[in-house]
Amino acid sequence: MSIKIATKSFTLLVSLIILTLVLTGCGTTTPVSEPPASTQTALDPGAARGQSLYNNQCKVCHGTNGSGGSGPGLVGKPPSASYIQANMPRNKPNSLSSEQVADLVAYITSLK
Ligand code: HEC
Repeated sequence: MSIKIATKSFTLLVSLIILTLVLTGCGTTTPVSEPPASTQTALDPGAARGQSLYNNQCKVCHGTNGSGGSGPGLVGKPPSASYIQANMPRNKPNSLSSEQVADLVAYITSLK
């Protein structure tokens, strides 16, 4: 008799534990706002636009994240907007709007 009661209580306890785990999601939910591990710390909107422009038009010569390639590395140098507008992309100077250049400057400035 007492064994039966113990078994019943045990079953109840296990059910409660499982229910608690299910309701709390077992801690497996990831916060929605967490950025993908591969990106840098969140860029502001201008720098984010600059980053995609950079990846499309500049990365081929200046490397991933400004690490350098056939063109010089861009990390840690304050970029000059007028220089970029007049000279870059090297193979297509004067093709960027001043808004695009401002976004690129914001992105390059964020490089570390
Ligand atoms: C075809 C290759 C190429 C592309 C594409 C290119 N660059 Fe350059 N960039 C160079 C080279 C080479 C230099 C070195 C100066 C020179 O030769 O004119 C340079 C210099 C620079 C500099 C000055 C760096 C320093 O050390 O003073 C900046 C800033 C720059 N580029 C930004 C950009 C941006 C922004 C883009 C994209 C819109 C871009 N570049 C696209 C080849 C390129």
